[in-house]
Amino acid sequence: MLMEMKAVSAGYYRKRVIHDISLSVDRSEVVSLIGHNGAGKTTTLKTILGVIKSEQGEIRFRDKRITGQDPVENVTAGIRFIPQERFTFPDLTVWENIMLGAHQVQQKEKIGKNIDEIYNQFPILKKRLSQKAGTMSGGEQRMLSMAMAMMAEPQLVMVDEPSLGLAPLIIQEIGRIIRRMADQGMAVLLVDQNIKQTLKISNRVYVMKNGQIVLEETSQKLLDRGEWWDLY
Ligand SMILES: Nc1ncnc2c1ncn2[C@@H]1O[C@H](COP(=O)(O)OP(=O)(O)OP(=O)(O)O)[C@@H](O)[C@H]1O
Ligand SMILES: [Mg+2]
Repeated sequence: MLMEMKAVSAGYYRKRVIHDISLSVDRSEVVSLIGHNGAGKTTTLKTILGVIKSEQGEIRFRDKRITGQDPVENVTAGIRFIPQERFTFPDLTVWENIMLGAHQVQQKEKIGKNIDEIYNQFPILKKRLSQKAGTMSGGEQRMLSMAMAMMAEPQLVMVDEPSLGLAPLIIQEIGRIIRRMADQGMAVLLVDQNIKQTLKISNRVYVMKNGQIVLEETSQKLLDRGEWWDLY
């Protein structure tokens, strides 16, 4: 497994929010974390990123223990977090934002190759390179934040609620892009409330309830059931 969490507990100050979480995600997999509001999904992602320190348990990435490691080191090692909130620099152009995403890429040829890939995946962005990011629609800004994350060729991408507040067509588009990221070899850990699409693009699913994982299943199995309300 590329990333593995073993019996991790974490929270804020003295308030423990996630308890005994064990989950994993491998290259070429989309693994989803679903659960009600406040279940601890975002907290889990932030604990992997290292902005929240785990109190117990172990996190491993690329066969190395990264428990408690600084987020900057985790990002350098190949982990990216695309937050629930929009994450672009509104006063910079689309092009400038994309290039900021590339600041860790050392080889120039790679930057060119990654940009081609981004134009390919996000044709909307290609048409708007000189537009200020802050003047783009919510869906376009979502795509831009994904493009920024992809410029650095991360190995593990964690995406928090990418479809929140967006129109169905854009949600579908974002779903396709996420699936493709995994098909190209990345490991994707996805949090999304849009269960049906999430199941369609994921390989495996973990259901969280009150800070704990209550079910792990393949997406296919859950899709076959046809009903998911009882998962919560
Ligand atoms: N900075 C914080 N300080 C204290 N408690 C927090 C903080 N952030 C989140 N929490 C609490 O931790 C719990 C889990 O929050 P978290 O954001 O991880 O849930 P979530 O599953 O991502 O929910 P949602 O679907 O609403 O995004 C909630 O009870 C929340 O109030
Ligand atoms: Mg959340």
